[in-house]
Amino acid sequence: TALFCLEEVDSTNRFAKEKAPECGKLMACALRQTAGRGRLGRHWVSPEGNLYVSFAYENTMPPERLAPVTLAVALAVCDTLADFDVPASIKWPNDIYIKGKKVCGILVETVCRGERIPYIVAGIGINVNQREFPAEVENRAVSLWNVTGKESDRAEIAWRLKKQMDRRMAQFMEKGFAAMREEYMQHSLLTGREVTASVPHTVCGICIGVSETGDLLLEAGGKRIPVTFGEVTG
Ligand code: BTN
Repeated sequence: TALFCLEEVDSTNRFAKEKAPECGKLMACALRQTAGRGRLGRHWVSPEGNLYVSFAYENTMPPERLAPVTLAVALAVCDTLADFDVPASIKWPNDIYIKGKKVCGILVETVCRGERIPYIVAGIGINVNQREFPAEVENRAVSLWNVTGKESDRAEIAWRLKKQMDRRMAQFMEKGFAAMREEYMQHSLLTGREVTASVPHTVCGICIGVSETGDLLLEAGGKRIPVTFGEVTG
């Protein structure tokens, strides 16, 4: 694995996408980002103290089976936090929660060559040593410092995360999401809750889990509704 440790970068995801074709498998960390990217076109505020890391992996999955890779990444983050005795849940598809607040966001992007997707870039932002959050996100965001009451070593977390990522990505590329569906379900925050999915159109139902293809499964009026993409509240 090519390793990049940067003081500052616009976005570790952008950086990893640029480097993947020349380096192949890589890991890029930064102390801070000036243009951190979030899901659905949002910005990821990235002050010093937290972990900002992107991994690039060679992709061997056909594009039509690739969508649930973000769920595998979420599982790798949960595995990592468990290594530090911090139990966390996953809010589908890939937000990591502790005590009802978001501690980590994941953004998976792809490097495309025509129809092919030779590389996958998985960007992970974990709130590590940030003590306070701006008022507008205070009731939704949490850091490891907030839950453990102590500073954590970002390098140690990053290293553990690399091990767990390598393991989950190998499992995903070999066997697909179906092989880890049950473990994902054990961390699922939404199961049993009433959930509203708003993209592409609004649907409401009780969450009964996740399918083998990574869809969120809702049940409403005796019908099963798979949710493939987007944002859900519940
Ligand atoms: C989200 O929840 O919206 C996803 C946030 C992903 C943030 C991480 S930080 C490291 C990597 N580089 C980026 O620009 N974004 C991801």
